[in-house]
Amino acid sequence: MILLPGLLLVLWGEPGRCLEEKEENGGFTFDGDIRHFAVAGDAVFVATEERLYQLSHDLTLIQSLTQRGVFTAGHQTQEAVFTRVPETEERNATLRVNVLLPLVADRSLVSCGVIECGYCEVLDLRNISHVRYREHILVGSPWSSSASVAFLVDVEQRKTETYILTATQHELPRSSCFFAREAVKLHNSNEGQGGSIFSLIGEFTTSSIQRIKGSAEFVDGFQIDLNIYLFANLPAGDNSNNRVRLIWLEGKTNKKETLQSLRGATLRVSGGGARSRLVASAVVPGGPPVLWSGVFSVDGGRTDTRLLLFDISPDLSVAADADPDFCSACPPAGGRGAPGGPTLQPTAVLLKQSFMTSVLAVRQKAWMVFFIGTGDGQLIKLAVDQNYRALCPRVLYRADGDRQVFPRMLLDQVDLKHVYLPLQNQMKRVPVSRCSSHASVQACWSAQDPFCVWCGSRRSCTFEDDCQDSDWISVPEDSQPKMVSYKVVKDGGGGGVGRLTLVIQTHLTVGREARANFSCQFTSSSSELCSPQSPPAQFPQCTCVLSNGTLPAEGRTVTLTLRLGSTELSEQLHLSGCSDIRGPPTSVLCRRCVAAGCGWSQNACSWAAAGPEEGDVCRMESGMNFSRPEISSIAPSVVSFYGRNHAVLSGYNLGAVTGVRIRADTDCAPRESPVWNNVGVELTFHIPGADNKGAVSVCVLLPDGSCHGNATITYQSAPSCTDVVPSCSWISGNRENLTYDTPAADRNTGSSSVFLKVANETLACSTAMTYYPDPEFTSFTSTRTGDGVRITLQKKADRLQMSPAEVSVWGVEEGRSYPCIMEAKESSNETDFFICEIQQTPNAKFQHLRVNIPVQEREMKY
Ligand SMILES: *[C@@H]1O[C@H](CO)[C@@H](O)[C@H](O)[C@H]1NC(C)=O
Ligand SMILES: *[C@@H]1O[C@H](CO)[C@@H](O)[C@H](O)[C@H]1NC(C)=O
Ligand SMILES: *[C@@H]1O[C@H](CO)[C@@H](O)[C@H](O)[C@H]1NC(C)=O
Ligand SMILES: *[C@@H]1O[C@H](CO)[C@@H](O)[C@H](O)[C@H]1NC(C)=O
Ligand SMILES: *[C@@H]1O[C@H](CO)[C@@H](O)[C@H](O)[C@H]1NC(C)=O
Ligand SMILES: *[C@@H]1O[C@H](CO)[C@@H](O)[C@H](O)[C@H]1NC(C)=O
Ligand SMILES: *[C@@H]1O[C@H](CO)[C@@H](O)[C@H](O)[C@H]1NC(C)=O
Ligand SMILES: *[C@@H]1O[C@H](CO)[C@@H](O)[C@H](O)[C@H]1NC(C)=O
Ligand SMILES: *[C@@H]1O[C@H](CO)[C@@H](O)[C@H](O)[C@H]1NC(C)=O
Repeated sequence: MILLPGLLLVLWGEPGRCLEEKEENGGFTFDGDIRHFAVAGDAVFVATEERLYQLSHDLTLIQSLTQRGVFTAGHQTQEAVFTRVPETEERNATLRVNVLLPLVADRSLVSCGVIECGYCEVLDLRNISHVRYREHILVGSPWSSSASVAFLVDVEQRKTETYILTATQHELPRSSCFFAREAVKLHNSNEGQGGSIFSLIGEFTTSSIQRIKGSAEFVDGFQIDLNIYLFANLPAGDNSNNRVRLIWLEGKTNKKETLQSLRGATLRVSGGGARSRLVASAVVPGGPPVLWSGVFSVDGGRTDTRLLLFDISPDLSVAADADPDFCSACPPAGGRGAPGGPTLQPTAVLLKQSFMTSVLAVRQKAWMVFFIGTGDGQLIKLAVDQNYRALCPRVLYRADGDRQVFPRMLLDQVDLKHVYLPLQNQMKRVPVSRCSSHASVQACWSAQDPFCVWCGSRRSCTFEDDCQDSDWISVPEDSQPKMVSYKVVKDGGGGGVGRLTLVIQTHLTVGREARANFSCQFTSSSSELCSPQSPPAQFPQCTCVLSNGTLPAEGRTVTLTLRLGSTELSEQLHLSGCSDIRGPPTSVLCRRCVAAGCGWSQNACSWAAAGPEEGDVCRMESGMNFSRPEISSIAPSVVSFYGRNHAVLSGYNLGAVTGVRIRADTDCAPRESPVWNNVGVELTFHIPGADNKGAVSVCVLLPDGSCHGNATITYQSAPSCTDVVPSCSWISGNRENLTYDTPAADRNTGSSSVFLKVANETLACSTAMTYYPDPEFTSFTSTRTGDGVRITLQKKADRLQMSPAEVSVWGVEEGRSYPCIMEAKESSNETDFFICEIQQTPNAKFQHLRVNIPVQEREMKY
């Protein structure tokens, strides 16, 4: 093992080759960065700078085509021909793809882009090497910028027609090829639409949507039922802010009517400023209402990003084609002054996190699940309940380096259980859940993963469709902290001897079979607990009327056994007489009270109320007498996601602090670290590792459970070591460098691996250490030079590439040593010469030379 304490910052950077092997997820590496990708049934299509790939849904390569070839432009557009040629042959053109759309019904793949000017191909969806049609025409953006979108839309007419909708930014430098002012266009998608494929012509006319003044960056678009949605950033003008606009279109009648049905709305970013903008978006399946999530940059930068949820259901009360920014039947120059339709406020802020770059949304029962890609190479899963309450975000995938996630992610359409995650030149296929890693009912439920159920017949945590019968249980439709809660309710009764009722509430969703067989059983050491008058269990509740109207002062332990289908759950309940729980009203007492099934009100413990519980009733100021601690700094405060041992926290009044609490998000379980060396103004603790890159908040814990102070620790990518210089050593080891010690050779392999030690993790380096025989110094000569002596030391040539700095030489004369200042190294065929000079020696009669390399020290006789 090599300790490299100083290397942490030095080697921060791109991941080394050896680290890739550690990644657990399947994936595919392309020969260039991904430009576009599309999924159709069991196929995935990926266009890079150099090639077009056809892969199966599990990312097995089926075939790839080069995008380079010979291009001949004819007089007529249709005469243009692009012929792919083998890599080795002469070529003069590259097709840069900007639109990649699978037309599943036609079994074709439309690939459009630019070779000098616009160029489109229609390929066979099952075998992309079959080119069915090609044309010299511009469809989509002529530039590689991503500020454009293209997707298929259905327009309902006599029969439904599918068109290719393109929305592109147009106020960019024009070329001889491109001069259109249109922003939104509808192209034919086949030959049978009253014109040729890619034609814009509708019923007798050509229609489009234009930006009235200025430019527009289109970010996303899609169709739901007949409504088409388009999202664009309108960059700030001279005296206006950036605006995020939504366009609604109704896909009805024909191209012209569809485009003239345009209505607009403005999306308001809460807390956003003049530069806030939409980065990526995803519609939530299901509805109405039409829910849509957008990743917004609050200040136009990368660090302050938010995931917001909007209801974008079309507002048909807005006048059609009267928008101030876009028009189809356009007014004479000068534009419109009309208001731009409604302003939509977010329904919920789902996540605040740095560097979000992409989002994908799915619905699972009552839950929405968001997959969020980040600029530092993470895929985060966020489950949101029907009340728009987000659970703790979880990291599904984390690249070792800071590779940016592509703005678009898609779901595997075959199993709907994997997300395609494009990371520069790689495509990862990341499982949406790892249900089977939760070994017990409790663990399966606690994972709070709407994709997972506990399958009674298989006795394991699985996807719901992997559970053959309906004998399963899962998380409830709204987020709950516990699977089972209970309380003891005292009803009025006469003369203060009311009945005590134990109410068990389960927080579960269950399959039909599990619901049909629901029961509760109570066992207690002493006499019969429940009176025979207790009502029968009825999912999700069980009620036990206690046969004794009082509880002993020391409390009573009851074992509850819940049965749901073939699943059995056991839980210990500790019931106490609620009025017996007394003391100063601290949060500790409150928790004891609530844990006993009692209610906390007016700073005292009493019998529970019959209704539902309110939030966290025990969050209160400490009743104990400590001075309030404060944190002034933490060193280091930027660490890798492996954490850091021996961090130092400074502040005031730290004397009573027992631990450091680290919380990533208000909805996530915090982690706690013990402290030591606490001297009141400074203490030491280990910063635990984190799943998530990003900032977390830190507070210090007092013995009463209260937590104080507000500091931040930022987790970032782990360091990775990509190279070690020199990467060879001599067999005896200890070839030294300021930052580096090699261990002795492994005699069997002649090499050893190099590791970085980061907190408690040991990361392998891509470079192995190779061992060669120890250096062999053979002889030396000396010559007088004025006051001094020049020594030339000879060493057998070897492959160690030793530098002069690695050799120390002393001349020994009558028992005294004189340092020889190393000047140069020269090499001939079979010998290396190290030249050094001993200055100001009295007589220059050296009998001995002491040559020192780190572990070898030897005397040489002249
Ligand atoms: C590319 O090569 C073909 C065939 O050699 C030639 O006809 C064509 O003009 C060339 N195109 C360009 C842009 O040089
Ligand atoms: C695609 O078609 C070509 C030519 O017809 C053929 O050689 C190739 O095997 C086909 N590839 C696949 C994956 O079917
Ligand atoms: C009821 O509980 C009280 C207090 O624990 C105990 O003294 C009493 O004997 C119990 N009564 C019956 C009928 O078990
Ligand atoms: C309900 O549970 C009982 C007891 O284990 C079992 O005998 C019965 O078959 C179950 N019924 C259903 C519908 O699961
Ligand atoms: C709290 O501390 C102050 C100052 O140390 C002291 O005067 C006071 O009596 C303490 N209160 C309690 C309840 O211990
Ligand atoms: C490293 O391991 C030690 C001993 O198990 C543990 O106390 C410490 O918290 C760990 N450090 C981190 C950063 O996880
Ligand atoms: C903690 O610090 C952050 C950043 O400085 C601030 O936004 C937040 O309001 C603070 N919270 C509290 C409880 O002081
Ligand atoms: C250690 O290696 C670094 C990087 O090559 C070099 O700059 C430094 O001078 C070396 N130190 C010694 C003592 O050789
Ligand atoms: C290197 O050594 C070989 C064998 O001793 C000899 O034939 C050759 O001439 C030498 N080359 C040089 C450049 O000294």
